[in-house]
Amino acid sequence: MGLEGPGWRVDVAPPRRLAARAQLLIENLFDQSHIEFVHPSTLGNAAARPDPIATEMVETETRFSVWRTVPPMAADDSSRAVFDGLGDYLMARIRVELLGVSLVNSVGSQTFNATADGQMLDLLGEMNFLHGVTPETATSTHYFTAAARNFARDADGISAALMARNDGVVDQDIAVLEAVERHLDALGDVRAEVTFASDAGAMQVRRRMERILTQDGLVRAA
Ligand SMILES: [Fe+2]
Repeated sequence: MGLEGPGWRVDVAPPRRLAARAQLLIENLFDQSHIEFVHPSTLGNAAARPDPIATEMVETETRFSVWRTVPPMAADDSSRAVFDGLGDYLMARIRVELLGVSLVNSVGSQTFNATADGQMLDLLGEMNFLHGVTPETATSTHYFTAAARNFARDADGISAALMARNDGVVDQDIAVLEAVERHLDALGDVRAEVTFASDAGAMQVRRRMERILTQDGLVRAA
């Protein structure tokens, strides 16, 4: 189902610009381990930390995505207010997905009815956070974001809360990425880089983009 199709609500944020290279932003969107450090007040804390071992990477010719499954949670009044037809438990499948070279869905969610022992049942709703990443120069980037959901579409309060949170998260990411860019600038061309298991998604998306750009003749192979 496309963004323009019936049944979706789309909220578009004002465009932003950051003084950092586009690649840093794209890799950051795939690095879920930064959330507890960069967004402790807006998105989560250590309890929300994804286990890199429990993630699943799916790569096809046209798409690359990293998935994880959230264990069953008991339904409460706030989740019932959002999802029609919610039973006793819900589960979610969360993904970060590269759609082409400049559009990322981070973080998309599919929420399901579920059993207490973790069996997923019918799909209750889906939400996508779209990040359009357009290089301006070698070290600056235009950044476009939007949220799309196919549940609680008339709930203006949910949209307002989502967009306010999005704005705060984008502020935090831009501050960190601009600091990284200044650091890279000071160091020159950095080849020695330390990576960890939690960087697997970001490293995979870097390799994929290098491959696409090389295949398209946009850059020469190193
Ligand atoms: Fe972030």
